[in-house]
Amino acid sequence: MTTPVLSVEDLWVRYGTVPAVRGISFDVFPGEVIAILGPNGAGKTSTLSAVMGRLGRQQGTIEFQGESIAGLSPDKVARCGMALVPEGRHIFGDLTVSENLQLGMVSRTTQQGSDEDLGWALDLFPILDDFMGRQAGLLSGGQQQQLAIARALVANPELILLDEPSLGLAPSIIDIVFKALDSIRDRGRTIVIVEQRAVRTAAFADRSFVIANGEIRLTFNRSDEGLPEDIASVYFGAQESSDGDSAS
Ligand SMILES: Nc1ncnc2c1ncn2[C@@H]1O[C@H](COP(=O)(O)OP(=O)(O)O)[C@@H](O)[C@H]1O
Ligand SMILES: [Mg+2]
Repeated sequence: MTTPVLSVEDLWVRYGTVPAVRGISFDVFPGEVIAILGPNGAGKTSTLSAVMGRLGRQQGTIEFQGESIAGLSPDKVARCGMALVPEGRHIFGDLTVSENLQLGMVSRTTQQGSDEDLGWALDLFPILDDFMGRQAGLLSGGQQQQLAIARALVANPELILLDEPSLGLAPSIIDIVFKALDSIRDRGRTIVIVEQRAVRTAAFADRSFVIANGEIRLTFNRSDEGLPEDIASVYFGAQESSDGDSAS
């Protein structure tokens, strides 16, 4: 039996007393690409943030390669072999591109292979190679997103979590991002990608979960047929109920 890379069971996230994630459970197996889809406010970022330890101890079980990581700080989680590309990038704008990448390397378990991983990241995002000495805050949004992903890759994570990596990017940059995701998958790394852009992401992922109002409403495999209508009903259903009375 294969141990999941990530196993989340009955996860609840609350802001004050208000639940944003309501008992979500899912497993991610080695080498899989998992998509978490859903409308704005569904609880996607809260789920990734909780997994990464950014929200402190939350109710539920979170295991990485069979070991509990619930309640660990984000840097401890990172050292276990997980990297998050957060929503809004959060690169260090005052530091250079090169310094941002060096910070990404801090959570590597071994410095062995770091030059190769940096070379790989710069092959995927050649623009960064041109701008190594530039202050990261001066990069365009698309360039900053490439830096955020590269910074995660040089940490050599087993599991990479990406929160809406294509948000606000030009189509040509979105293509670069998806090409990078292909390369990460080809290297056998495990990916969890959160997106509102459902169709392209679902076509890329092995399995997708659609969440709304903090719950998984729909799970499907890439090989399944007839899905767009189902996805649409979850999205539009959620939008309708968000300003009307709750559908529980
Ligand atoms: N820091 C916060 N404090 C209070 N409420 C929050 C906070 N972050 C998110 N929420 C609420 O939690 C719900 C889920 O948000 P989020 O996880 O960001 O959704 P998504 O990433 O799917 O858009 C939303 O109702 C949002 O308003
Ligand atoms: Mg979000």
